Amino acid sequence: MIKGIGIDITEIKRVQAAVNKHAQFIPKVLTPAEQAQLENLSGQRYWEYISSRFSLKESFSKAMGTGIGTQVGFQDISFINNDLGRPEVFQSIFSGRAHASVSHTDQLVMTEVILEEGSDGNS
Ligand SMILES: CC(C)(COP(=O)(O)OP(=O)(O)OC[C@H]1O[C@@H](n2cnc3c(N)ncnc32)[C@H](O)[C@@H]1OP(=O)(O)O)[C@@H](O)C(=O)NCCC(=O)NCCS
Repeated sequence: MIKGIGIDITEIKRVQAAVNKHAQFIPKVLTPAEQAQLENLSGQRYWEYISSRFSLKESFSKAMGTGIGTQVGFQDISFINNDLGRPEVFQSIFSGRAHASVSHTDQLVMTEVILEEGSDGNS
């Protein structure tokens, strides 16, 4: 059963500006596991990865129905790309399964998160 869906569009340039202005942006938004994956990236892929993690967490918070805040924080969820590049969700604030998808252009990142519970989920 679907508990919620969330989508988000993020401008890569805005994320670049935030990272360049605020040294704490990356450790605030990316978990240690995501920061470790980021270390292997450079150029446009580096900025896409940061932007997509930010956007995925916005999408997750919308699927939860809370927004980012006290109930869902950036450090509560990790989106780690598997060997094929698919983002896999690691989180403990929702008891079911979370599914994620990402798409980019040069300037934009779009993400979607679907939360599933019940017979096919884990709750
Ligand atoms: C809910 C949230 C994720 C929306 O993000 P946003 O970037 O402000 O706006 P978006 O254009 O992506 O999304 C707006 C839409 O989100 C939806 N939305 C708003 N609150 C929502 C909620 N609690 N649950 C699900 N969807 C929600 C609405 O459909 C809204 O569109 P509308 O105003 O036309 O009705 C936002 O409130 C939030 O939590 N942002 C956190 C940002 C942040 O922490 N920034 C700091 C960076 S370090």
